[in-house]
Amino acid sequence: MEKTKIPAHVGIIMDGNGRWANLRGKNRSYGHRAGTANVERITEHAFNSGVKTLSLYAFSSENWARPKTEVDELMRLLGLYFKKFLKKMQREKIRVAVMGDISALSEKLQQVIAKSVDATKANDRGILNIGVNYGGRQEVVYAVNKLIESNQPITVENISANLYSAEFGEPDLIIRTGGELRLSNFMLYQGAYAELYFTDVLWPDFNEAEFDKAIEEYGHRHRRFGKVQ
Ligand code: IPE
Ligand code: IPE
Ligand code: MG
Repeated sequence: MEKTKIPAHVGIIMDGNGRWANLRGKNRSYGHRAGTANVERITEHAFNSGVKTLSLYAFSSENWARPKTEVDELMRLLGLYFKKFLKKMQREKIRVAVMGDISALSEKLQQVIAKSVDATKANDRGILNIGVNYGGRQEVVYAVNKLIESNQPITVENISANLYSAEFGEPDLIIRTGGELRLSNFMLYQGAYAELYFTDVLWPDFNEAEFDKAIEEYGHRHRRFGKVQ
C-alpha cells in the first residue's frame, strides 16, 4: 500500500454481529463470539499500522434494553475478553482504558476491568479505550456535573477536559461497520470533527484489508475544521 496519512485516534462502532450470525442460521450470541474474536485481530492490526489510540464501542448505555440472555452473554464475553487480552496487551505494551459508567456492571466484572486498567497503565505503545455502558450524551452530563460540583464555568474546553476519556483526545476517524448510517450515541462531543467512514461489512467480517480501506479513504479526506483552506 502507498504510504498514507495514519489517523492518530480511531473510533470503531463494531456493529453487525447479530445479522452476521442470523445469515448463518445461528443465534445472536454466536455472532457476538465471532465479533469478540475480531477485536483481537483488528486491535493488533491497528496498532501495527501506527494508530496510537483505538476507541472501541463494545456496549452502549442503550444495549441494556436487549433480551437478558443476550446482555448476559455480552457481559460474559467482556469478562473473558479483558482476562484473555491482558497478557497480550502487556506483551504489546498497550494501555487498556475504559470509558462509560462501569458502576452498573457486576462487582466481578468491574474487578476484572480494573485489573486490566491498572496492570497496563504504564504501557506507552498505544491506548485501547473500550466503551462499556457508554453513551455520548451521558458522558456530556457526567462532565457538566463534574464542573458544577467543582464550581467551574461550563465552557466547551471545560466539558472536553472532563469527558470520560478526556486525556485521550478526539477521534480523527470514526468507522462504523454493519451498514447503518448513524452514530448511536458514540463519541458525540469529541467526535464533532471526526471523519466518518461507513461500511456495509458486518463486524465479524471486518478484517485487516477492510481496516486498510478505511485508512486509505481517510488519507484522501480534507479536514477544514470550519476554516477556509
Ligand atoms: C454489535 O452488533 C454489538 C453490540 C451492539 C454489542 P449487534 O448486536 O448490534 O448486531 P446487529 O446490528 O443486530 O446485526
Ligand atoms: C451501537 O450498535 C452499539 C455498539 C456497537 C456497541 P447498536 O446496534 O446498538 O445501534 P443501533 O441500535 O442500531 O442504533
Ligand atoms: Mg446493531
